[in-house]
Amino acid sequence: MRVQRTSFPDGFLVGASVSAHQVEGGNSNSDWWWWEHAEGSPCLEPSGDACDFYHRYREDIALQGDLGYNAFRFGIEWARIEPAEGEFSRAELAHYRRILAGCREHSIIPIVTFHHFTLPMWLHHKGGFAFDRFPELFERYCDRAAAALGDLIGYACTINEPQGLGHSGYVLGINPPGHRGDVEGSRRATGNLLEAHRRGAVAIRSQAKIPVGICLALPDLQYEDGAQPGQSGFELESLVNDQFFELARDDDFIGVQTYTRFRFGPEGPRGAGHAWSDLSRELTETDDTTQMGYENYPQALGGAVRRAWKSAGGVPILVTESGIATAMDEKRIRYIDTAMRETLACMAEGIDVRSYIYWSLLDNFEWAFGYRPTFGLIGVDRKTLARRPKLSAYWLGQVARTGALPDL
Ligand code: BGC
Repeated sequence: MRVQRTSFPDGFLVGASVSAHQVEGGNSNSDWWWWEHAEGSPCLEPSGDACDFYHRYREDIALQGDLGYNAFRFGIEWARIEPAEGEFSRAELAHYRRILAGCREHSIIPIVTFHHFTLPMWLHHKGGFAFDRFPELFERYCDRAAAALGDLIGYACTINEPQGLGHSGYVLGINPPGHRGDVEGSRRATGNLLEAHRRGAVAIRSQAKIPVGICLALPDLQYEDGAQPGQSGFELESLVNDQFFELARDDDFIGVQTYTRFRFGPEGPRGAGHAWSDLSRELTETDDTTQMGYENYPQALGGAVRRAWKSAGGVPILVTESGIATAMDEKRIRYIDTAMRETLACMAEGIDVRSYIYWSLLDNFEWAFGYRPTFGLIGVDRKTLARRPKLSAYWLGQVARTGALPDL
């Protein structure tokens, strides 16, 4: 008989996530800032002040404490910490220490991402992810940052979603460095990212006794009868994920990040979400789709968690991102409710899941899409940058405080 779990165990982490570049603002020494302003850039608008989290982190952390969240995933920014090769900024490290201390004051466990898509400009000029010294440079950055911050960190994520960085930056040209058809560059970048994770994790562990892991994008890839696995971007990324799963067997946890499913029929990709290309289209959403054009399918989280559990040999799982871009906040609540019930079902099967971290805390800079998609539990007025918690923010706080999902 299948056991039904209805509540989360004590110590289960519930909260929200952001990344450095998407919320801090003014990250002008990074390759993404360059990319946002480059001629012919696909970005709809620059990140600018983002959510000014760089200056407003105190209020944002206090708000999360008031809401009842017990974990917060945020990023530290390599471009600030090492603004020139080999020059580490004590002031920036002190800034991140203050953020960590703020989390601790509010009894919030900080989950820290060391790398979330962006690179310092000096490294971009040398070739970025494809530069042959990339793994060694990442290792040194991890070592320095963990030495300065490790005692306050709860969980450390080395790299966010490395599986797509080679393909999207070197073959599709939709991320920095914006190469197209550079298969060799993509291959080198992917190899370097695997090695960077391995070396970065060792460096962090050598400086601090904290759990270290990698965060992977794991859409639920579903094949109908007669479908042939092909060469779509998602499928190629999935093959890279298999290599990261092998490395994750030596890690302390694996971060699972899922938004939707992608379906494949005998004729190839089918259903919503496969077309990423038209950034400027109207953000129309229906009950069945999201502002990103994805299928509204929170059940995808169950498939992703089971895959990670099986593929990484039973390493504990943190759900580090699960979320929906929508202008309809009740739809967000239903999405989270279903995703959390999937999490409970996985736990009832014996899978060791330790967190549900929603993406995102704030309406923030959604990369090339700019500020139009709204993933946040908390709205941000684009003129005043004032925070406006949505009903979903309070709803998730109730779940965090009680450890149970209320009847909808
Ligand atoms: C990334 C985030 C992004 C989110 C929503 C994830 O793949 O880690 O940076 O904003 O998806 O698209």
